[in-house]
Amino acid sequence: MTAIRIDGKAMAEQVRADVATGVAELKATHGVTPGLAVVLVGEDPASEVYVRNKIKQTEACGMTSFHHVLSKDTTRESLLRLIRSLNEDPEVHGILVQLPLPGHLDAKDVIESIDPAKDVDGFHTANVGELWTEGQPFVPCTPLGCLKLLKSVCPDIAGKHAVVIGRSNIVGRPMAALLLNESATVTIAHSKTDDLPGLCRQADILVAAVGRPQMVKADWIKPGAVVLDVGINRIEDDAGQSKLVGDVDFDAALSVAGAVTPVPGGPGPMTIACLLANTLEAAKRSVA
Ligand code: GUN
Repeated sequence: MTAIRIDGKAMAEQVRADVATGVAELKATHGVTPGLAVVLVGEDPASEVYVRNKIKQTEACGMTSFHHVLSKDTTRESLLRLIRSLNEDPEVHGILVQLPLPGHLDAKDVIESIDPAKDVDGFHTANVGELWTEGQPFVPCTPLGCLKLLKSVCPDIAGKHAVVIGRSNIVGRPMAALLLNESATVTIAHSKTDDLPGLCRQADILVAAVGRPQMVKADWIKPGAVVLDVGINRIEDDAGQSKLVGDVDFDAALSVAGAVTPVPGGPGPMTIACLLANTLEAAKRSVA
């Protein structure tokens, strides 16, 4: 069997096109242009790349982008002051503080200072609570993108056994909540899980979000399963060239799985597209 290769790039383009249409409608009907503020503290090169892409794509779909770059020595007080001013700015509908933050700043403390109505990352405990109680959350962008990819090949999730490897606040936990809300039977696995390969082999839906290059091998995968690979790891190939790989051994997975996401080109492109969708949603809620 050769698995379906789930195309995250194509789906992200579709999501962005839908967002652009929604932005134009909101401008026409309410005179409101959705605005996303991105805050970057310090000079982490990977974060700078993410932030540049976010700004480009925000503007490409007709939204306003506000960009704040603060030095790595920024104090808690001045960061919280900036967030307070963004909370109060009517032109800002979404606020994203790029993680990780420099060591002297506590991410949780910073996230909790964001108005939950503008928390388009879905990291504030108010949104986490809404997600786990089937309320009206902003859902973290990477798991939201994964769910859309999953539904494209597996419209009926109810009753399926989903195994999520990884328990981070950004991916693993919210992914598990989303799958539970779709009536999957969900197991969250992590570094201390006994017999991880055996557990994964029971999964109809397998989500890998651990940050360990090509950890999931072919014999971890139930034949026909849907495999979503959230990992983005840089490794050197046999010729000494640097390349990106996921947490799943993609070539091996192709021969066993029913469908699998590639890296790059899987959940990655969907993350920013879902951020834009969340920002549009925040702007719509602001006029509702
Ligand atoms: N760093 C890596 N992924 C993310 C994300 O989804 N949101 C934020 N704010 N920072 C990140």
